[in-house]
Amino acid sequence: MVPRSSEDSQYAALLAQEHFARAFFEESSVGLNLCRMDGRWLENNPAFLAIIGYAADEADDGKLNYWQLTPRKYDVQEAEQLERLRTTGRYGPYEKEFIRKDGSLVPVRLNGFVVEVGGEKMIWSFIEDLSSERALETERVKAIHGSKLAALGELAASIAHEINNPLTVISAFAHTLPDSIADGDEALITEAIVGIQRAVERAGAITSGLRRLSRGTTSAAFERFELRGLVEEAVALAGARARSAGLSLELDLRTSARVMGNGVQIQQVILNLLNNGFDAVRRAPIKQLAVRAVDVDGFALVCVEDSGPGVAPEHRERLFDRFFTTKEPDEGTGLGLAISRDLVASMGGTLTWERVGDRTRFVVALPCAPDPGPTP
Ligand SMILES: Nc1ncnc2c1ncn2[C@@H]1O[C@H](COP(=O)(O)OP(=O)(O)O)[C@@H](O)[C@H]1O
Ligand SMILES: [Mg+2]
Repeated sequence: MVPRSSEDSQYAALLAQEHFARAFFEESSVGLNLCRMDGRWLENNPAFLAIIGYAADEADDGKLNYWQLTPRKYDVQEAEQLERLRTTGRYGPYEKEFIRKDGSLVPVRLNGFVVEVGGEKMIWSFIEDLSSERALETERVKAIHGSKLAALGELAASIAHEINNPLTVISAFAHTLPDSIADGDEALITEAIVGIQRAVERAGAITSGLRRLSRGTTSAAFERFELRGLVEEAVALAGARARSAGLSLELDLRTSARVMGNGVQIQQVILNLLNNGFDAVRRAPIKQLAVRAVDVDGFALVCVEDSGPGVAPEHRERLFDRFFTTKEPDEGTGLGLAISRDLVASMGGTLTWERVGDRTRFVVALPCAPDPGPTP
């Protein structure tokens, strides 16, 4: 056979290109679709069909359209993306949901651009299924919540004990009061009332710390907070455990920093570090813990130190790994440090540790929030 002309090879190249593009379209794990400007879908690849739960013959050639599968709550965002498409020829990344054939909603991320096909303007879109990403995020939130409850659980017995002390004081004064009143002994009456008030304040400080901590961490709301007060409150909660274990807990807070972040989560981090400190000194000959805070170069540093044996060299690599623990199953989850590091990172900070002399020191470094300036 005589080769005819270069047209043949051009045609073959075109066919090969078409074949290549087809394979790409069919095999892509990202959803792909071609859509008319009015929203009617012309072509959908298998990945996209899987996301929306339709078969090709139910969706292709204009049988389905974009708007049918878009919940109305996205009206405003849709208008914005359309406007971008008109002005720039592109849209996205745009996160929304599609209504699947079975009626459920599937979270997706879209990107796309305008092309001209046979003189008509159309939209190519790339569609990523975000379901597993979202499921991971839900897992993460649950893990944070679970570890917070675990941190509180480790303190529960000593907190109950700590609240019991002021109750005992109140009860004692309450017993003596009727006699003092009968005797008209004003000094004793005043002493009892002041004593009761103080005891109530002490118990109140503990319960308010608990209340704050048990509120949902799930809200990722960031606020400006004064670091010092929050650290004091967390240490007050842990102080009960220190006292009942007969160890010293030194507090040296030289910070006036305000920090942007989630205050409850910072307390959770401090509690995690303190709980680790308690465990570390439990069998150590010297049982000392310290919490210090200083402001250095735009960062507020909170250090939690213990006089325990430190971290064994073979454990150092895995210290911050999820589920890494050297403790008994009912004593440790291995989540404390992993989650603490995540929480601190989400506020733009770092969580590190070092051995300083005979102390193990975990350092939380948080960027100080800029001064908001004078309030009007
Ligand atoms: N202050 C510390 N001193 C010595 N080892 C520590 C200290 N803090 C943490 N570790 C080690 O890191 C591991 C992981 O800590 P963490 O993530 O809080 O989980 P858990 O406390 O549940 O074991 C601990 O099991 C322990 O081996
Ligand atoms: Mg721990």
